[in-house]
Amino acid sequence: MTTLYEVHGSVALITLSNPPVNGLGYATRLSLTDNLQQANDDDAVKSIVITGAGKAFSGGADINEFGSLKAVQEPNLLSVILAVENSSKPVVAAMHSVCMGGGLELALGCHYRIAAPGCSVALPEVKLGLLPGAGGTQRLPRALGVEPALNMIVSGEPVKSELLAQIPGQKLFDRMASSAETLADEAFAFAQAIADTRPLPLVRNLPCKHRNGDAYFQFARNMVKGMAKNFPAPLRCVDAVEAATQQKFDEGMRLERELFTNLMFTPESRALRHIFMAERAASKIPDVPADTAQRAINSIAVIGAGTMGGGIAMNFLNAGIPVKMLEMKPEALDRGIATIRKNYESQVKKGKLKADKYEQRMGLLSTTLSYDDLKDADMVIEAVFEDMGVKETVFKELDRVMKPGAILASNTSTLDLNKIASFTQRPEDVVGLHFFSPANIMKLLEVVRGDKTAKDVMATVMALAKKIRKTAVVSGVCDGFIGNRMIEQYGRQGGFLLDEGCTPEQVDKAIEKFGFAMGPFRMGDLAGNDIGWAIRKRRYQEKPDMKYSKTADLLCEKGRFGQKTGAGWYDYVAGKRDAIPNQDVVKMIEEHRASLGITPRKISDEEIVQRLVYSLVNEGAHILEEGIASKASDIDMVYLMGYGFPIYRGGPMLYADQVGLFNVVQAMKRFAKNPLDDANFWKPAPLLARLAAEGKTFN
Ligand code: 3HC
Ligand code: NAI
Repeated sequence: MTTLYEVHGSVALITLSNPPVNGLGYATRLSLTDNLQQANDDDAVKSIVITGAGKAFSGGADINEFGSLKAVQEPNLLSVILAVENSSKPVVAAMHSVCMGGGLELALGCHYRIAAPGCSVALPEVKLGLLPGAGGTQRLPRALGVEPALNMIVSGEPVKSELLAQIPGQKLFDRMASSAETLADEAFAFAQAIADTRPLPLVRNLPCKHRNGDAYFQFARNMVKGMAKNFPAPLRCVDAVEAATQQKFDEGMRLERELFTNLMFTPESRALRHIFMAERAASKIPDVPADTAQRAINSIAVIGAGTMGGGIAMNFLNAGIPVKMLEMKPEALDRGIATIRKNYESQVKKGKLKADKYEQRMGLLSTTLSYDDLKDADMVIEAVFEDMGVKETVFKELDRVMKPGAILASNTSTLDLNKIASFTQRPEDVVGLHFFSPANIMKLLEVVRGDKTAKDVMATVMALAKKIRKTAVVSGVCDGFIGNRMIEQYGRQGGFLLDEGCTPEQVDKAIEKFGFAMGPFRMGDLAGNDIGWAIRKRRYQEKPDMKYSKTADLLCEKGRFGQKTGAGWYDYVAGKRDAIPNQDVVKMIEEHRASLGITPRKISDEEIVQRLVYSLVNEGAHILEEGIASKASDIDMVYLMGYGFPIYRGGPMLYADQVGLFNVVQAMKRFAKNPLDDANFWKPAPLLARLAAEGKTFN
């Protein structure tokens, strides 16, 4: 049963009971309507209370049903709310913990509302690329006032019940309970007190006017337009709320329904709903049960106070976990600490961190030059030079000093984690934690699972990632893991495009117009072109048959490593990040092209985008097939959180699904025919070919 029905004296209590958040799925809607009927048919019942079991009143419509017939199957949410409004006996919503989306819309359909303090109230549909579709845009402005309601609907942000209760003239809550614990009793007493009051009040009958409507909505539209960027939903929210102030209730409801249905079928909403689910799915590892016992992590050691070590340490300091940093020389420690201080000071200056918090965090940081001082740490994260010999020395030392059960993590970005684990007598305790630079800012964390990594180590680091506010995605061991393995193919395509006739600026602009935060050449300049150069040098030895454009090597031979040298694919003015096209670089590309006997051709933006994005898709399909990623949505999360893939497109694998895998494969076949490209690479990964042939999708 997804609702519980009880009668206490003259009050019927209907409890939504559909864990985890009492989503209003078909079964719940059906039994809620049945319960209402039961209460109305029972002469002993004089009033009805609706509440939610567990940690929510309700988190709203069941997101899992979206896109399926169940979502619209009668009784749909609108019919349920109508049944509540039409109840001949007063219905009181007792709201606590979380009251969101359709949950709030249900409460707004009730005749009375009583809320516990601390209840998070929201219409978060906009975050899913939607607008409230069960009367939220028409009832909330009537209950709360137009401006606060529009703010809530356009932002989707939760507001605490006690703050909403302070809004002058608000009719959202008839009463605030004195505490969450006493909510049930107070709701019962209230329901008894109003049992005979008639007529029953309805939010739909409240007036909805704005004194200065035209000017206000014009202002709101301008504000929202700037903020909404590629998402259609926020402006449609304004349209719907404006309709509440101008049209009759039923007309406003019709418009809301039409806008909601249209938004549901936009690729942007599909992307946002995918991301909501993907983020939660990423934290689940198929063969690691949710109740796996975790190891206690109350202290961290970080080896190496360079670019990554400092940022990694800050994550834990921010979460209140003490960190001990180890370096080879005192100067290196001083440099590392100074960088951490500088970062915090800049946050204090910008008002993002309070001075006392800064000192508190620095107080959790200690340093050492001796491995023996690390013996009590619960977990150590190594961030030393990317060299197997250095890693070997470090891990042998760690194996010697660390206490039994300590987790030994490596931040390696390319090296074989299984080999690193083999330097210890406890490979089951070794895991990869691949942070992205700047490690204190970037949301993504690739958790690299070695062949022997223990399940409880995986469970522990996934939970720890949440604690330090990272989106963790599990990757198997392979060169580059999920993200960098795919980006290498994307970078190779960028190089071929230069050889065939593009400028770096043209490529960057095309993919940035598609929505990437940064094109491949601006990204190379930011990360340092020397990093890719070092990887290619290794590849030339390991995979002599792999084809690369040589332009990037020529660029590096000129010392143009990117922003750090003031010059890369572009020029940079000291202290600024604006990329200024450089004619010498363009000439270098032209000369190289001529030396290969290539006549440049005009390449469309469409071809640029397809080659760059489909290269990610094809490599992603290999990664999926090999089990390096356990689900396509994990690959999407890596690209959305770590590589600037446009959020509104939902990640490379979802984008390919939306384009249609058949179309993706057709394009790959065309690219394979280009003699200047790599025909071998464009052979669709078997998984991709199979799904395309069967008319299926990755997600
Ligand atoms: N439907 C189905 N499942 C939901 C859900 C929903 N509306 N909201 C959350 N869940 C599930 C999550 O998928 C997750 O499942 P899992 O345990 O299997 O991973 C579980 O509930 C817990 O979610 P969180 O990890 O996010 O838990 P938190 O405690 O951090 O947050 C929450 C709870 C605040 C409710 C948060 O999940 C949330 O913001 N949910 C989205 C709410 C939302 O967008 N509601 C609007 C739905 S659209 C709608 O109502 C349309 C209507 O207008 C017609
Ligand atoms: P870095 O060169 O900035 O810092 C490395 C630090 O390690 C130096 O301060 C050095 O003194 C110290 N060190 C070297 N050997 C040591 C030893 N035996 N004991 C103690 N300290 C030692 O390097 P960076 O960029 O921080 O990289 C570190 C690791 O992180 C590498 O494995 C790298 O591949 C990985 N990584 C780097 C990213 C980046 O963008 N820089 C991104 C993700 C991972």
